[in-house]
Amino acid sequence: MSHARPIPDARSVDAVMDRTATDRAAMDRLIRERLRSDVALVNQVAEYIIGAGGKRLRPLVHLLAARACGHDQDRHIQLAAVIEFIHTATLLHDDVVDESDRRRGQKAAHTVWGNAASVLVGDYLYSRSFQLMVELESPRVMSILADTTNTIAAGEVLQLMQLGDAELDESGYMRVIGDKTACLFAAAARLGAVISGSDEAIEESLAQYGFALGQAFQITDDWLDYSGQDGSLGKNLGDDLAEGKVTLPLILALRAADADDRAFLTSVIQSGGTEDLERVREILRRTGALDESIARAQAFSDQAVEAVETLPPSAERDALAILARFAVDRSL
Ligand code: IPE
Ligand code: IPE
Ligand code: MG
Ligand code: MG
Repeated sequence: MSHARPIPDARSVDAVMDRTATDRAAMDRLIRERLRSDVALVNQVAEYIIGAGGKRLRPLVHLLAARACGHDQDRHIQLAAVIEFIHTATLLHDDVVDESDRRRGQKAAHTVWGNAASVLVGDYLYSRSFQLMVELESPRVMSILADTTNTIAAGEVLQLMQLGDAELDESGYMRVIGDKTACLFAAAARLGAVISGSDEAIEESLAQYGFALGQAFQITDDWLDYSGQDGSLGKNLGDDLAEGKVTLPLILALRAADADDRAFLTSVIQSGGTEDLERVREILRRTGALDESIARAQAFSDQAVEAVETLPPSAERDALAILARFAVDRSL
């Protein structure tokens, strides 16, 4: 396995954005059109979170995967919107569950309209995504997305059960991030092959690409929660520790720490809160847990790049590789 792959600079990500500008604009139009409801509060809350943007990384993976498979119609636009609706619904729910009060550079919706409105508008976006998906009249597409949304929900519940558990090991952590995050990236990429009628080998390569990218992305998110720059991420740092969520940096630090540090970390995990964030950060740095975490993310990103290299050469295939790099090499 080669590790000497070029890291994308901002220009190559910009080039991907330029290349996909037409498809992305069509997707945004569709998202805006299909958001609408005759219930004012639905419009307000949905516009608030969708209008704040977000990276739109999952639908971008889908658009590129479809084009890399030679897709030349517009079903991928509709699926990209479906994928972003699903993702946005999970964010509305996730911020209530995680008690996170910043999202996409603004106050989280539940701090403005309350938990009930956030959860219900999340349900609205979920069900709207099903309506859009059904219009495509493809049982295969419906089956993949039904499985995916079910897996995400189960992953979030599994994570809930793990809160405050200092014994959580790496495989338990990997299972949760596979379910709650990587499987949606895998579906986004796989569906590019499905709607363009590609053969099974290509579909599997794209699914592997998406899954590995998603793992790299979530490990990086968990790393950023301790190492990110305040302000650039668009959400609060330290939220994972605050709720006793055990992520890879903590798991690796617990393994490497001496008895005193381990006892301290265990008690912070059990009690939650942010008072001890600085001392925890210091231990994560000193034990090498943060460096080790980002190295794991990098390895998954390498796997994603390798998986996509089995596709026929195209500018879109190269763009998918650039996104796999971006999943790790980012500050937002
Ligand atoms: C946030 O996803 C949830 C995670 C899986 C970490 P993103 O970081 O893609 O959120 P947006 O859509 O860009 O806001
Ligand atoms: C991602 O997990 C949640 C979902 C994919 C539903 P996180 O809880 O880490 O995401 P952020 O940090 O709040 O964006
Ligand atoms: Mg969260
Ligand atoms: Mg997070």
